[in-house]
Amino acid sequence: MRKNLLKKQSGTFRYIIREIVSLAQKVESQGKEIFWENIGDPIQKGEQVESWVKDIIINKTKDNLAYGYCPTAGVMDARRFIVDEVNSRDGAKITTDDIIFFNGLGDGIAKIYKSLDPDTRVIGPSPAYSPHSTAESDHASSPHLTYRCDPNNKWLPDVEDLKNKIKENENITGILLINPGNPTGAVLSRDMFEEIVEIARINKMFIVCDEIYSKIVFNGHKPQFLSEVIGEVPGIAMRGISKEIPWPGSRCGWIEILNRDKDEEFDEYARKILALKMVEVCSTTLPQMCIPEILGDSRYPELLKRRARKFEARAKEATDLLSGIDGVNAICPDGAFYFTLAFDDGVLNQTQTLNIENEKIKEIVETSCAGIADDQRFVHYLLGATGICTVPLSGFSCNTNGIRFILLEEDDVKRQHVFNTLANSIKEYVGKS
Ligand SMILES: Cc1ncc(COP(=O)(O)O)c(C=O)c1O
Repeated sequence: MRKNLLKKQSGTFRYIIREIVSLAQKVESQGKEIFWENIGDPIQKGEQVESWVKDIIINKTKDNLAYGYCPTAGVMDARRFIVDEVNSRDGAKITTDDIIFFNGLGDGIAKIYKSLDPDTRVIGPSPAYSPHSTAESDHASSPHLTYRCDPNNKWLPDVEDLKNKIKENENITGILLINPGNPTGAVLSRDMFEEIVEIARINKMFIVCDEIYSKIVFNGHKPQFLSEVIGEVPGIAMRGISKEIPWPGSRCGWIEILNRDKDEEFDEYARKILALKMVEVCSTTLPQMCIPEILGDSRYPELLKRRARKFEARAKEATDLLSGIDGVNAICPDGAFYFTLAFDDGVLNQTQTLNIENEKIKEIVETSCAGIADDQRFVHYLLGATGICTVPLSGFSCNTNGIRFILLEEDDVKRQHVFNTLANSIKEYVGKS
């Protein structure tokens, strides 16, 4: 008898951000223009990589070493550059042995959970960023465990809920923070960051902090890093260049392992992550070779500031249009480039619709709505009626109804059209409750 192909009770392995794409493609095939507001790729939305950045990359392609394998943990010069950056902060210090490069943080996310004992759980924020929640869930063959983030407190973690969840489940050994948050754009205050580290310290836990958006903060916030607050608690900070440069096609991200010398078992865990990476030999060499020159360039800080200002203005633009709608909580982000609005409890139901003129699209949307969550239903109707493709919060392991859209559209007219249409569609849909 043939054995099972799949792990028994495998966890929920879904990626809702991309799943909506197949429905959007069906709608598009009926001649409807689609506004892709579902995925965090600045390049797809028209952002031009700065020409000096491209020049550095072009020059590196002339170096023969860019075509070879590199050490499993990553190109030594890139690791040295990151070590210098981390060690220049007031906080935990690292060496080049504490850095591991991956083919995008997505690869790193998959490997950090896979390297853990299946009984060891990492609790993460809700709404959750699906690659973390699905990878953690798959590693444990069980639904992802989450702590609540509060839409009435700028989507910041509900620390009491986190404490209670930890008390209730002794398998929770790690806390995941995403700072700034995806999907919420929430930015932790220093006090809350320290409070959560303290919870980890008291409970002998480790912290994973996804800092891929750490340099995209605004509304008065400054970049902050796990290494600055971690003290002696073991931790993993995760960073990358997809969002920062931006260069998502580089598939280049890394982890910084903090305080491995303070905890033998944690050190062994870090070695296991490297061993897992070794199976693939290494990550792509060229982008790593570019890191010291791009991130170390005197023009880089200005590039970061300019981008942060741009997203701050767009976040305000969306907040101005969307706040004040009855039944909707439009929560202005303080970082990253997402906007997550929440619907008040009871505002959405399974009878609301938007007017879809094209009969074929109407049929596609109606068929797709069987048995789906209330916010997913809104997302499907919005797509069919307006072509705007967003993601429902229920796809982010979240009990609050809501949607996430992006602030990335470079064409001002198109972006304002999307925000205006979104505001009008929400009013029309919610008005039918
Ligand atoms: C919070 C977060 N972490 C990690 C990633 C993955 O980034 P990468 O392109 O490096 O795989 C993303 C991408 O959207 C993200 O939002």
